[in-house]
Amino acid sequence: MKTVLSGIQPSGKLTLGNYIGAMKNFVKLQNDYQCNFMVVDLHAITVPQEPEALREQSEAVAALFIAAGIDPNKANVYMQSHVPPHAELGWLLTTLTSMGELERMTQFKDKSAGKDSVGAGLFVYPALMAADILVYNADLVPVGEDQKQHLELARDLAGRFNHRFGDYFTIPEPYIPKVGARIMSLDDASKKMSKSNPNPGSYIALLDPPDVIRKKISRATTDSGKEIRYAPDEKPEISNLMSIYSQCSGMSLQEIQDKYEGQMYGGFKKDLGEVIVATLEPLQQKYDEIRKSGQIHDILAQGADKAMEKASRTVAEVKERMGFLPAK
Ligand code: AMP
Ligand code: TRP
Repeated sequence: MKTVLSGIQPSGKLTLGNYIGAMKNFVKLQNDYQCNFMVVDLHAITVPQEPEALREQSEAVAALFIAAGIDPNKANVYMQSHVPPHAELGWLLTTLTSMGELERMTQFKDKSAGKDSVGAGLFVYPALMAADILVYNADLVPVGEDQKQHLELARDLAGRFNHRFGDYFTIPEPYIPKVGARIMSLDDASKKMSKSNPNPGSYIALLDPPDVIRKKISRATTDSGKEIRYAPDEKPEISNLMSIYSQCSGMSLQEIQDKYEGQMYGGFKKDLGEVIVATLEPLQQKYDEIRKSGQIHDILAQGADKAMEKASRTVAEVKERMGFLPAK
């Protein structure tokens, strides 16, 4: 069976962008692949985190995975830091990565722009992400569009290792949705919807109460035209809202366009608010149940145990190939 791996950072609240771009596909893939879905806490600390907030967010993201429909009996759900081989392989791969490759990463350029001091972890982070993937020899990596460049590096590092030390790593393929791979900000369709945006009106958080969701959608920026038509270059705001509608309702973009032909933005947005609420309300209920039950700790322990088996075998093999003296 082919292997899938992906991860989401426990930094801030998860958004509808995370759900549509990534989590929804996690749920889809779990039936046909051996899946590993992690909360990537080691990645989160590449920018400063308050310890208490990090702990709370970590548990919250793990619970959201389950609430979104990931079945812990089908997929391994765990914390990245509970499986130390990630960090170990991360270091081994860092030594195969060039400064130039890391300097070209657009996410690093964005996150470091204008900062006086930038952590070295933020710079080397893509090598750790490559390790996350390669430590299971994952075939497929479901991510949003913004992770494509990082995945390209993982592919290059796998190839480089294979070339120097003999064929071992699978070259992983990205799995990026056709619609919804880049959900844009509600106040500015030139930026991706992001949990780190200081304006909460720019994103829908997965745990936003229904009335907040309705209000945010009704206030979302739209162009001064009238047509409800999918044209990302010409009408980026309405196209973004249509993508969200499509992903939450299961209707195609064409079906949405036909349904709203000749109608006003107001009515479309009102319906969209309801479509999102209908998608997120069951998820929110399940989330509350999971948090109250305390079961998440057992789920994470079980997931880490299973992940550990494969990950530690990979690291042992990689170290042998690289020429490390065995410990025994
Ligand atoms: P992050 O929140 O950066 O850990 O991202 C977790 C996953 O969600 C990654 O696969 C991202 O590509 C995806 N993602 C984050 N924001 C968006 C967005 N606005 N649209 C689509 N996918 C996204
Ligand atoms: N870098 C990803 C993000 O910020 C999260 C991530 C870490 C990841 N490791 C991964 C995604 C491995 C896919 C596979 O969104």
